Amino acid sequence: MDIKKIYLEEVNSTNLFAKEHLDEIEDRTIVYTYRQMAGRGRFDRQWKFVGEDNIYMSFVLKPAKTFKPVYANLTQYLSVILSRVVEKYGLVPKIKWANDVLVNGKKIAGILSESSVRGEELAGIVLGIGVNINAGKELFSDIEKPASSIALELGRCIDKEEFLKKLYSNFFLYYDKFLSEGFSLIRKEYLSKSSFINQTIKVAGIDRVIEGEAVDVTDAGTLVLKENNGQTTTLWIGDIL
Ligand code: BTN
Repeated sequence: MDIKKIYLEEVNSTNLFAKEHLDEIEDRTIVYTYRQMAGRGRFDRQWKFVGEDNIYMSFVLKPAKTFKPVYANLTQYLSVILSRVVEKYGLVPKIKWANDVLVNGKKIAGILSESSVRGEELAGIVLGIGVNINAGKELFSDIEKPASSIALELGRCIDKEEFLKKLYSNFFLYYDKFLSEGFSLIRKEYLSKSSFINQTIKVAGIDRVIEGEAVDVTDAGTLVLKENNGQTTTLWIGDIL
């Protein structure tokens, strides 16, 4: 498969670069760097630069001219693809809804999808992923939540280029199938890899923190919580605390 690639020696953010150059970048292109100096995370957070031996990449996708609900699940699709790659290295990844990937309870990657819509028209989707490959422990000491790298969990360094290639080739291998079948294609696998199902969790939703038992993730990728008062709530967006 011939995948278009744009390599940047250094950039503020691959997502920002891709959005700013969206019209010039073809569908199914990856934009990547090993020096991302102002990475962006979910909920306006930052994504720290943890050295050059790690991955900072954005997929530029232009599947259609109008937004379809399945595009909102691309982050979950990518979390499953990433987990499969991580498993190939002998680690046991767990997915924390919606798309965080953890190894031994520590976050090793972050995914951020940004859509560019002009009027009614979808100009494109920029699906960014940062993977901590060979970063050392000291780089995570100022990060609030437990974070780690593949190398730290594995006990040895790995080849970041090889990992990158595995990641984007596996992504594009099932991409068309995923777009036509939707989240249900990966739901079983997603659930089997999940770190939160049947557990009591707290989720920061848009306007409140909801506590309850995580009972399911639906075919739409939404999280179903059974709150302590017996009420069932379905969440489209949120952050498990
Ligand atoms: C998160 O967990 O908050 C998401 C982090 C996403 C980071 C990646 S790194 C490549 C791409 N470019 C960015 O600026 N952010 C994403």
